[in-house]
Amino acid sequence: MSEPSKGVPSDAELAELSREELVRLGTELDDVELVKYQDRFPVKGTRAEKRAERQVAGWFLLAGLSGLAFLGLYLFWPNEYQSPFAEGHFVYSLYTPLIGATLGLSVLAIGVGVISYAKKFVPEEEAVQQRHNGGSEEIDKKTTAALLADAGQRSGIARRSMIKRSAGFGAGVFGLGVGVFALGGLVKNPWAEGETPDSLWHTGWMHTSDNEKVYLRRDTGDPGEVSLVRPEDIQAGGFETVFPFRESERGDHDALYYALRRSDNPVMLIRLRPGSEPVKRKGQEDFNYGDYYAYSKICTHLGCPTSLFEQQTGRLLCPCHQSQFDVVNTYAKPVFGPATRSLPQLPIDIDEDGFLVARSDFIEAVGPGFWERKS
Ligand code: FES
Repeated sequence: MSEPSKGVPSDAELAELSREELVRLGTELDDVELVKYQDRFPVKGTRAEKRAERQVAGWFLLAGLSGLAFLGLYLFWPNEYQSPFAEGHFVYSLYTPLIGATLGLSVLAIGVGVISYAKKFVPEEEAVQQRHNGGSEEIDKKTTAALLADAGQRSGIARRSMIKRSAGFGAGVFGLGVGVFALGGLVKNPWAEGETPDSLWHTGWMHTSDNEKVYLRRDTGDPGEVSLVRPEDIQAGGFETVFPFRESERGDHDALYYALRRSDNPVMLIRLRPGSEPVKRKGQEDFNYGDYYAYSKICTHLGCPTSLFEQQTGRLLCPCHQSQFDVVNTYAKPVFGPATRSLPQLPIDIDEDGFLVARSDFIEAVGPGFWERKS
């Protein structure tokens, strides 16, 4: 074992030193000159100290209350989608700003509370120190830990129960809020809506029990204007984005708007060039109508719209992370990029009036995650 250098106590002497002595030793060893090191409130229990304590506790209390408000809003504020034409739209539209503002205020109040605690109670220190190279030695670590503990003790945190309780309340509620926020999206009952298009198991292409026809319509920019798609509307090698439409929805602005907005509804209708002879997926050999193939537009990686179709290669491209789905050779399997699942194919046909219709809903999950299927 090497001898301790001059001015450095041995291990035995070090173990005997009090915290205050360790603080002093630490500064001396580091060539630190403590120009100022004093308690913020040398006289305990003054009105000024109590006022400072109340201010810090007030911030933590605010953090806790806004965290509670966030939890309440997140759990109970109406957040089911309402179209701009529906009566409850205004209340629904406040949901995101309100949960953002309350969670933000909670984070801010915790931050301000911690900073004001440090400014008001941790000893005021001004030090001048020479800079050294390399890592810290054991003695430095020990004396630094003593310095931190000393500052903690002098700040009086142990006896400031108001601050401790309010900080516990603020941080506890905030932590709870973050936990609920992270897991809340999973707390949904997939069976709650029964066998309807609103169920998590289905998309807007589902056929209801009365077997009403579901047409392919385009988005003209006006939700009330219904423009149905006929095969001859699309040129060979072309494509169009389509959405579901039922005759019973005609004139119902809410339903028409919702069908265009619902995240799992968009479908890419592709007309392959004649003679393409695509490979078909087992069990889905009759999902196409002639050269017309309909695939979910929602990328199976993270849900971006796969809005580019390259007719030379027959690939659908997702612009977000460059996944490519080969429609011609591998029935929309990903052949490049991070996506790992094929785009689901929608079975289509033509009705007696010459309009393209969906024969049923998709037979597999659309997009990247089951729990995100709606809204
Ligand atoms: S979302 Fe399409 S590649 Fe990532």
